[in-house]
This record gives sequence, structure tokens and C-alpha cells, in this order.
Amino acid sequence: MQADPPARSLAPPGPDVRVALPLLSRSHTTWADSPCLPPTAPAYIRDARRLIDAHGRTIRDLRISVTDRCNFRCVYCMEPDVKFARREDLLTPDEIVRISRIAESLGIRKVRLTGGEPTLHPELTRIIGGIRSEAGVELALITNGSRLTRASLREWRIAGLARVTISIDTLRPERFAAITRSNGRVDDVLAGADACLTEGLAPLKLNAVLVRHVNDDEAADLASLAPQLGVAMRFIEYMPLDSGRAWDVRKWVSAAETKSAIERRFRLVSADDDDPASTSRTFRFAHLPTDSPARVGFIAPVSNPFCGACSRLRVTADGKVRPCLFSTTEWDMRTLLRNGAADRFIADFLIDAVWSKQSGHNIATPAFARPMRPMSAIGG
Ligand code: 5AD
Ligand code: SF4
Repeated sequence: MQADPPARSLAPPGPDVRVALPLLSRSHTTWADSPCLPPTAPAYIRDARRLIDAHGRTIRDLRISVTDRCNFRCVYCMEPDVKFARREDLLTPDEIVRISRIAESLGIRKVRLTGGEPTLHPELTRIIGGIRSEAGVELALITNGSRLTRASLREWRIAGLARVTISIDTLRPERFAAITRSNGRVDDVLAGADACLTEGLAPLKLNAVLVRHVNDDEAADLASLAPQLGVAMRFIEYMPLDSGRAWDVRKWVSAAETKSAIERRFRLVSADDDDPASTSRTFRFAHLPTDSPARVGFIAPVSNPFCGACSRLRVTADGKVRPCLFSTTEWDMRTLLRNGAADRFIADFLIDAVWSKQSGHNIATPAFARPMRPMSAIGG
């Protein structure tokens, strides 16, 4: 167990301490609109030691971006000249483990490690092992799949990784290069998916983002990976979170359109096993037995916002807490971690940050305010 760091500059939490804190947390804030500390949650919420927001939702799912770097520059995500955070501003493995441990004590049940591309982190095994030994959470990895080997997957599984989600937007090699703007190969991603299954990292999820005139003709081909590999193939609607701000409703492909395209090839039946907090609506293939793991899922944040049952909280690679993917505010946890804040204080900070979670995101309405950061910095 990691002992609490001595509370050097911070006395035990109390209203007087909170007044002093903004001075500490201003210095490294990159985003001009980022306030220092979230408003204090009511005492009965603080006392419950649970992550509950003002809209009655309990937060059980934490996504931590372990790096903002990526070896791809996907057209819907990251511009080739994207600016990365300074290395010293990225959370360290110990900080990531500590956050997970404190979050688990507040009811977090799942931690998903994302990026950027998390497999670029040289100490990913240490992060996975540290989280598993200090926090009893289910651990999953969200990756672009380009760097998965059986040896690395085995190492991560032994360290405590339970599940993997891989992005795959096309099966065509030239398109793969054009979408990812990299020299990555779709065959490597497919081999990575295979390696996950061989190493027992199942059920495996694959994610695709369809963009109009880029890969919107591949819905059924991608869906056919589900029965072929025995995996869940999920289609995520293109969201206005790209660093190039190129999102445009004309490039967006709805989940309904994607589903119709798939249904021209396969008969789908509702799987009826969606967790109400899940962001995905899931279908099975009518021609396969009910116990087949093959699934098709649709995540429709634009046409069908899933905010009502949202159970998530995000931590960016540089240690900011984002109550929502579409938050325009984020709270600086890194400065607290580096200023000797005690666990109890970090926990109160997380409780307050969750309490402030917005009810929804108004995406695709004129009131929608685009977040300052792309998905790669926020952590998918
Ligand atoms: N819209 C939808 N999904 C996105 N992702 C990245 N950027 C976007 C976007 N603008 C997805 C990737 C991956 C996950 C980490 O985030 O496809 O599956
Ligand atoms: Fe990298 Fe994933 Fe963004 Fe593509 S979508 S650039 S793989 S972080």
C-alpha cells in the first residue's frame, strides 16, 4: 500500500484549507477557462463517500488517459501537427495508481486505460500491476491495436488486465493509411485482435467511427468481423471532438443509417443484455446461437445522447478531471497530487468534481459548446 504523502502544505481538509488552495493550483493550468477547484458538494454527499452527481447518477466507471501521444493521426481525432503536453505535466505511473485506489474507495468499479495510444507508455505493465494490486477494479485497455503482441498482452493479462477494446475503422489497406495518416497496417490490428483472443482477453470489443465519404460504405464489412472473430463490433457516431475542428454534420453518419446498412447483409436481433449505464445498444446475429459472443453495438452520442444513465468520469493524461467528455471545465488534480494533498483531500476533490457533472451535452444543438480539447487529450 502506498502511504499518504505527508500533508506539507495542506492541513486536514476543511473550509479554511480550501480557501488557500486556488493559489496552489493556478500555476500549471494550461486551459485559460479551467477553474481551480470544483464547488464543494453538500455535506451529505461528502459524507456518503460515493461519487454521486447533482442529477442523481452514481459514477462507477473511470477512464484514465495514460498518455496523450499517439502513433496514429486519425482524421476524426488528431491533426498531424497536434501539440502534446509537456512530459513533466503527464501523470506518473504512481499518480495513476494512486488516483485509481482513491477512486475505488469511492465506488469506482471499472478503470479503463486510454490515450492517445496507451501502449506507447513504456511503463504500462507497471501501471496495470499497480492498479490491480492497490484497487479491486476491473481493468480494461482501449487501444488502436497496432502494437499488440502476444507477449505484451500476456504480460498485461498477468499484471491484471481483463479486457481490451481495439479501434478499427476500415479493412482496406490504402484506406487504413489514409484514415490513420500513419504507416500502421490493418493486418497488424487484426493480428492484435487475434492475439487478444488467444491470450484470453475476452470478450473483445472492436470500435469503428464511420465518416461520410471516407469509410461509410464499410459498415457491413466491419460488422462481419463480429461473427468471423467472435467479438462485439461497435459503431461510434463521429463526435465533434477532433483537434482539427473538422467535424461537420455532413460528415456524420447516424447509428440508424449504419444499422440499416448492416441489416441489408445480416438479420440483427436485440441482445437485451445492455447495462442501463452502457453507452451501447447491442444486437446479436439472428443466424447464430444466442450464446455466440458475436455482437453489433451502436453508440450514438449525437443522435441519442446517453447522458441520463452516464456513469463515467475521465482523467486526462495531464491530470485534469473532466466530469464529461464534453465538459468545457476541467479540474486540476495533478497540482493537488504534487502538492502533498492527503488521500482524503483528493477523495473530497473527486466527490466535488462529480457533483458538478453537467446533466447532458446538447451536442448537435445550437447551444452546444465544443470542448477545448480533442478526444486524444481527453481520453476516449
Ligand atoms: N468521434 C467519435 N469517436 C472518436 N474517437 C476518437 N475521436 C473520435 C471522434 N471525434 C474514438 C476512437 C476510439 C476511441 C478511443 O475514441 O475511435 O475508438
Ligand atoms: Fe490515436 Fe486513437 Fe486518436 Fe486515432 S483515434 S489518433 S489511434 S488516439
